[in-house]
Amino acid sequence: MANQAKWWQKAVFYQIYPRSFSDSTNTGVGDLRGIINKLDYLKELGIDGIWISPFFPSPQEDCGYDITDFGSVNPEYGTMKDFEELLKKSHKNDIKIILDIILNHTSAQHPWFLESKKDQTNEKKDWYVWRDGRGKSGKKPPNNWNSMIGGSAWEWCEERKQFYLHQFLTFQPDLNWRNPDVQIAMFNYIRFWLDKGVDGFRLDIIQTLFEDKHFKNNPKSWRFFPSHNTNEALFQKPKYTQFLPETIEVCRKLRELVSSYSPERMLVGEAAGNPQMIKPLYGKNGDGLHLSFNFKFAGQPFSARKFRRVLEETQEILPEPYWPCYVFSNHDSNRLISRQKQNIEKAKLLAILLLTVRGTPFIYYGEEIGMLQAKVPKEKQLDPISKIKIWGIPLGARYGRDGCRTPMQWDDSPINAGFSKKSKIVPWLPIGQNKSINVKSELSDEKSMLTYFKKLIKVRKQYEALQIGQLDVSEDSNSDLLIYKRTFQKQQLTILLNFSSKIQNIATINKVKQIFSTKLFKEQKDVSDEITLEPFEGIIVEQMK
Ligand code: NOJ
Repeated sequence: MANQAKWWQKAVFYQIYPRSFSDSTNTGVGDLRGIINKLDYLKELGIDGIWISPFFPSPQEDCGYDITDFGSVNPEYGTMKDFEELLKKSHKNDIKIILDIILNHTSAQHPWFLESKKDQTNEKKDWYVWRDGRGKSGKKPPNNWNSMIGGSAWEWCEERKQFYLHQFLTFQPDLNWRNPDVQIAMFNYIRFWLDKGVDGFRLDIIQTLFEDKHFKNNPKSWRFFPSHNTNEALFQKPKYTQFLPETIEVCRKLRELVSSYSPERMLVGEAAGNPQMIKPLYGKNGDGLHLSFNFKFAGQPFSARKFRRVLEETQEILPEPYWPCYVFSNHDSNRLISRQKQNIEKAKLLAILLLTVRGTPFIYYGEEIGMLQAKVPKEKQLDPISKIKIWGIPLGARYGRDGCRTPMQWDDSPINAGFSKKSKIVPWLPIGQNKSINVKSELSDEKSMLTYFKKLIKVRKQYEALQIGQLDVSEDSNSDLLIYKRTFQKQQLTILLNFSSKIQNIATINKVKQIFSTKLFKEQKDVSDEITLEPFEGIIVEQMK
C-alpha cells in the first residue's frame, strides 16, 4: 500500500447540493459561481474533493435527479464557462471535482423519452424499457416489480399503449441498457466530462441499470421499511432488478474508460445494500468501481458495539485491495446531528470515527457547522417523496428530504442566512430554524463545530496512518468503548471513542501521547500511561517509541 496510495483513498470529500450552497445571482437558487466564491472557505476547511449533486438541465421534479440533457449546465446554475472556471480554480486549490451522473434514468421530459413514447416504431423506440401489459385489457403491469419508493415500477403510457419501467419515480423512466445505442450515448457523456477534466463521478443508483431480460417476478420479502442492511423493502426482494451481472459488467467498462485518462479519475457508486452486496461493484481484482458508499454507518444507533460490528464486517468483506467509503449523511437522509437528538458531543464523536477509520470519508455540506434538520412547513415542501403515499401511509414524515436540503447558513441574516448576496432574497427552500448555527459566528469561535472539523481534518492530514494505515479493531472488552489502531510504517495511532455518558479510565501498556480530542481544549497532552475519557469523548493517541 505504502507508496501506491491513491488520491481518492487519502481524500476527504465534501458533498455540495448546488441549489442550496450559495446564490451569487440573487435568484434564491444556489449556483456554480456561488461555489466558486466559496472555494477559499472549502480550502480552509481542508477538504480535497467536492461531489456536486446534479446541475444539468432538468425540470427539477426530483431536484435535478431528473435530467433532460446530460451534456450541459442548467441555466439556473450558470453556464459551461462557469463550470470550467470552477474546475480550473478548484484544481488550482488542489480540490478535485466529481460529478453526479445518473445512468439509470432520464427525466420523462428528456427528448429521447418524448420520442420513445410516441409509438412503437419511432427511432428511439428501444431506448427505454417498454413492455406490453397483462390481462384482457392489457393494462395490468407486466410483472410484480416495485419501484424503489413503492408501488409498481411500471407506468402505463396511453400514447404508446405500453408500460414503461421506472425503478424510481414515475417521471424518471429507466433507460434500456440492453440497447447498445444507449450505452454508447451514455458513455459519450462520461467521455465529454472527462475530456473537460473532471476527476470522477458519483454514480446514482448504479445497482439498477439492468433488469432480468425475461422479466421474471421478484421474490417476496417480509421487510417493508428500507434499511441499510439489505436492499429488500416494500415486501420485495429485488433479485431481478438490482445488482445484475450485466450491471457489474458496465461498472467494469466504466473503469476501463476512466482508466484511460490521466491524471487518475475516480468512480464512486451509490447503491443501497450491505457491504456483501456492494462488493461486486468493485469488480474482480479491482477492475470495477474504485469505491462504493457503505451506508451502514448512517443506519447505526449510537452504540460502540454496533459500530465495531460494522468496522469488522467491512474489514472482512472489503480487505485490501478493496477500499471502503463511509458516509453519515447526504441529501437523502436526515441531518446527522438531529438524528443524535442535537447532542453536539455525540455528533463530534461520530465525526472523529468517520475521519479516522480505513476508508474514504464524505461530509455533507453544513455538517461541518452542525446544521440541523430543518422543519419545512408542508406548503413549502418540494421533495416529491414527501407527497407520496404507500397504501395510504404518507412517506413525508419519515422520508421527506427537504429538511436536509435547506440553504447553507453562512451568517445569521433572518431571511436567507447569507445564502444569497442580498439579504431580502427569499431562498428556494426556507432556511433552518436555528440561525445561530452559521459559518460567520463559528469561524471566530474556538469551540465551534467548524473549528473542530478543521482541526480534525488537519490531524488526519498530518498522519498517513489515519489516511491509509492498516486498521485493527480492538476486542470488545467494554461495551461503551470503541478502540482501534491505525498503523503505517513507524506511525502507530490508537483511536479511543467513549460512547457512554460515564468517565472511562484506561490503563495503557506503553506510554502514549494524546494528539487530538473531541474536547478541543484538551487536545494535546503529555505522555502518560493512563487515559481518562470524559463522557462522549473521543481521542487519538500516538504510541511513543
Ligand atoms: C438517489 C439520489 O441520491 C436521490 O436523491 C434521487 O432521488 C434518486 N437516486 C433518483 O435519481
